Amino acid sequence: MVAVDPDHPDQSVLSEAATLLKRGGLVAFPTETVYGLGAHGLDARACARIFAAKGRPSSNPLILHVATVEQAKALCDWNRSAQILADRFWPGPLTLVLPRKARVPDIVTAGGPTVALRIPNHPVARNLVAQCDFPVAAPSANRSNQVSPTLASHVVQSLGAAVDLILDGGPCPVGIESTVVDLTGSSPVILRPGHIRPSEMEIVLEQKIETGPIPGGIPGARPTGPARSPGLMERHYAPRTPLELLESRESAQKRHEEWKKKGHKVLLVLGLPGEDRFHWGEDPLLWEKHLYRALYDWDEQGWDRILIAVPGTGEAWSGVVDRLRRASQPA
Ligand code: TXA
Ligand code: MG
Repeated sequence: MVAVDPDHPDQSVLSEAATLLKRGGLVAFPTETVYGLGAHGLDARACARIFAAKGRPSSNPLILHVATVEQAKALCDWNRSAQILADRFWPGPLTLVLPRKARVPDIVTAGGPTVALRIPNHPVARNLVAQCDFPVAAPSANRSNQVSPTLASHVVQSLGAAVDLILDGGPCPVGIESTVVDLTGSSPVILRPGHIRPSEMEIVLEQKIETGPIPGGIPGARPTGPARSPGLMERHYAPRTPLELLESRESAQKRHEEWKKKGHKVLLVLGLPGEDRFHWGEDPLLWEKHLYRALYDWDEQGWDRILIAVPGTGEAWSGVVDRLRRASQPA
């Protein structure tokens, strides 16, 4: 693990990291959303190491991180919506899914006809990617289906020795993964809710965005390819401690009493301070920023169970509530 200044990263450290990537190594690095596990995105063998390190099914495609729109265009069939969204939101926590070009390895797209692309906005990620003359494939740097890391120590905890180099740039400022939007159909479809909200995109696109999950899977995917966007996989982002999501504070409090009576050590997450209670108030951005770190911490604290009351409704909460719903699915 090497410490890097998150705002002014040492270019020589990034240059070493870029060399490692070029040679097929795995480098974990901070992005504005979560830590990514990077590999040379045009080197199928290097990408295979990502899948092995994460225990990730080969049906789950990877995001390619690039430094410029020109680089993105060389990997996909660019379109007008992509240009509008890139102008407005890149660099930033938005991933665009577009028809792939042939030079993108099958392992990256899980054999499907599309590729996911983003320009990250964290100085470490941006400068690292800029030092590479190839796209950097990077999923979140955690074991498959576990909680995404927002600290370098989470990466160590989740992936340990499987990574060749971890760049420690401190906490990730956004805290949940990028919004993934599919631009291959006639109207854009949200595949994974995130920090960038659909309405923000609708304003610049002047077009309605579909937000529901796609029951039949990714449009146009081959049967052998990604069966559905794994962002839609039901259980995901899950802590080890059983997590129960309640629809109201009252029902969460009631449930808390029930479990406590049975002698269980239960953490109640809602708007009341106290010994076995916890809260971040009513700001969705604070929830985004702190949720994953809290899930890692709570796993360490030895609770029998975590009870969380749905913290808010509406679009601003869609990323957080999506992660909570997935985290609360039984294993
Ligand atoms: O914020 C983020 O996006 C982070 C940082 C590191 O950039 N990365 C990340 O990657 O969350 P990962 O692999 O954990 O999640 C990528 C999501 C998955 O849900 C995956 O299924 C979806 O994007 N995805 C990737 N390529 C796709 C494609 N061609 N079509 C549909 N979904 C795709
Ligand atoms: Mg992930």
